[in-house]
Amino acid sequence: MKILVSGGAGYIGSHTVIRLIENGYDVTVFDNLYNSKITVLDKIEKITGTRPDFRLCDMTERKSLEAIFREDKYDAVIHFAGYKAVGESIEKPLMYYDNNINGTLVILELMEKYGVKNLIFSSSATVYGLPEKCPVDETAPLFCLNPYGRTKLFIEEILRDLCAADKDFSAVLLRYFNPVGAHPSGLIAEDPNGIPNNLMPRIIQAAKGEIPELQVFGDDYDTRDGTCIRDYIHVLDLADGHVAALDYAFKNKGSIPINLGTGKGYTVLELINAFEKVNGIRVPYSIAPRREGDSKSTYADNSLAKKLLGWEAKLNVEDMCRDAWRGAVNYE
Ligand code: NAD
Ligand code: UFG
Repeated sequence: MKILVSGGAGYIGSHTVIRLIENGYDVTVFDNLYNSKITVLDKIEKITGTRPDFRLCDMTERKSLEAIFREDKYDAVIHFAGYKAVGESIEKPLMYYDNNINGTLVILELMEKYGVKNLIFSSSATVYGLPEKCPVDETAPLFCLNPYGRTKLFIEEILRDLCAADKDFSAVLLRYFNPVGAHPSGLIAEDPNGIPNNLMPRIIQAAKGEIPELQVFGDDYDTRDGTCIRDYIHVLDLADGHVAALDYAFKNKGSIPINLGTGKGYTVLELINAFEKVNGIRVPYSIAPRREGDSKSTYADNSLAKKLLGWEAKLNVEDMCRDAWRGAVNYE
């Protein structure tokens, strides 16, 4: 089976490519390397023994993407490519709508033209906004607080419309919770451009001494220790979720949103403590004011993924912290 992976040089994409190769898929990656490096291909080859086929291509450039579709017949597309920084999306909304939405439209039009009928899409738990109750399931109301989140929501709607119009089309909308960690080889790691906003990269910076301390945004929430709760999920478990979703897409038509989370919530302080314990290193931190737009608690009801995909996360928070640190220390 031939799979085309958009954004496959990035953090989640590269881990998924490893799992796809290990599961016997024939993979072509395309990426414009806006937020990734070509050297990831050497690392994937080192880990799996196979170098994925790679095309340097921007998904918004129809001609160059069409050349890829024309060359080979793909069984499915896994679509990771996009911009993902919430803060930047508020400052530059048009850049986000253009890349994420227009880019997706080009991919979908070419899929229709070349008869590729299966898509796995990277959505996000951000579509739940500030969930009224947790665990949050796929039927919860959708609401987005920023342009990045709205690109996910709009693409989900576009895929629903496409599946309604084309009864042969299958779209699995994977709503990721909080991906962290890295391949245990330490060869690949999350490598955010500029100043990272997310908790794990900031924990790592504080542990390395690259920033004086981590700021914990708010300790006065109504939670067990006052800090916010999230569902952290190891990126390799997430990658396995994509392999399971492919299987599902090949056997079913229509669009379906599916949560990929562990179903367990950890507070910010619990994650810091787990990181310190498993890695034997101190993470200096101080309590700072709440961050605007943060939900008090977001964790997944993952029963649909268990039922439909036969998938559930296997790695725990200690694995996530250990592998994230190993990746960060070894990463070149
Ligand atoms: P990433 O930035 O590491 O990977 C995205 C890849 O897409 C990068 O390699 C980038 O160069 C590429 N890309 C961007 N625009 C492109 C374009 N126009 N043409 C071709 N390639 C392009 O991000 P990631 O963390 O691996 O996230 C993958 C997907 O998952 C994204 O769609 C993201 O929004 C979504 N997601 C991520 C998280 C998270 O916390 N990491 C959470 C929920 C959803
Ligand atoms: N946090 C801190 N200090 C920091 C960074 C984060 O205390 O320096 C806290 C936040 O306040 C929040 C928790 O750590 O309580 C997690 O924050 P992240 O920014 O790591 O994750 P979010 O859940 O806020 O958002 C992330 C991505 C979104 C994505 C969402 C759901 O940034 O793009 O997960 O997948 F949509």
